[in-house]
Amino acid sequence: MLRFDTDKMKDLDPTSLQHLAPLHGVLMGKEIVENWKEVEQFQARPDDVYISTYPKAGTTWMSEIVDMIFCEGDQEKCRREAIYNRVPYLELRIPGSPSGVEQLQVAPSPRLVKTHLPIHLMPESIWDKNCKVIYVARNAKDVAVSYFFFHNMVKALPDPGPLDHFLNNYNKGNVSYGSWYDHVNGWWEKRQEYRILYLFYEDLKENPKREILKVLHFLEKEMSDSLVDKIVQHTSFQEMKNNEMVNYKTIPNEFLDQSETSFMRKGIAGDWKNHFTVAQNEIFDEEYNRQMAGKNLHFRTEINVNI
Ligand code: A3P
Repeated sequence: MLRFDTDKMKDLDPTSLQHLAPLHGVLMGKEIVENWKEVEQFQARPDDVYISTYPKAGTTWMSEIVDMIFCEGDQEKCRREAIYNRVPYLELRIPGSPSGVEQLQVAPSPRLVKTHLPIHLMPESIWDKNCKVIYVARNAKDVAVSYFFFHNMVKALPDPGPLDHFLNNYNKGNVSYGSWYDHVNGWWEKRQEYRILYLFYEDLKENPKREILKVLHFLEKEMSDSLVDKIVQHTSFQEMKNNEMVNYKTIPNEFLDQSETSFMRKGIAGDWKNHFTVAQNEIFDEEYNRQMAGKNLHFRTEINVNI
């Protein structure tokens, strides 16, 4: 296994990575854009499983669920490595550390792969090999809040400024990975063309067992009811918050500063209500309605129970 080298991160000034650049109309980290060929030419394998999301939609949560499924519910096996080594991040490029592609090239099959790429930027080989992709979407407002806090933690992302300023950039797609609207709609529109399981964070929150059963079915795997319950328990927010193999506490503070906010921050649906002002919400709704007009993709911005 080619481990992502967290020690090497200490030698780097994370602010040197803050620069974003456009790639086919989508803003992304400059390092990714400059080395795009490596991702574009990535060779998929038919038994790869991709976990795709717009950032902050529940990537780590779904990654742990899928790894638990592949480990047949064995928690100890899942603790073998940090999540970024068990589920390499396809397009990630940090100087001095192995890239996501380099990690994946030497990873044994079946590989689990994380990506935040919009569908039109996915390497062609993934579709040629008819790979399965689990896409997790989360409502725009909670993603915006989570992404805002994340920008304050990750020193390699641009300074988000005040929330007002960030929301404006976010709604314009002026952030890393571009527009949330384009991302969720792009994947939604192609979900029947390829082998894509399109899930929602809010549904997972409301009834994790029901959604994990959908994942099992999609992956053509069977599991006893008690093992499914074990996965639900192991991947609950509280468990994951305390699990060093998924809570990113192994990333140096200089890169990911969790002193004020944790990566496992709140883990609920509807937290935006604690952060948006009435005016911000009105502006957001107006923009949302404009950009989602005519789409048959619907999100819940709150749920009755946050288990
Ligand atoms: P919040 O910042 O709203 O708390 P990603 O993994 O895509 O970066 O997403 C991170 C978001 O998912 C964070 O949201 C994090 O708390 C939440 N999350 C991670 N694990 C979770 C879990 N087991 N249950 C619910 N939410 C979870």
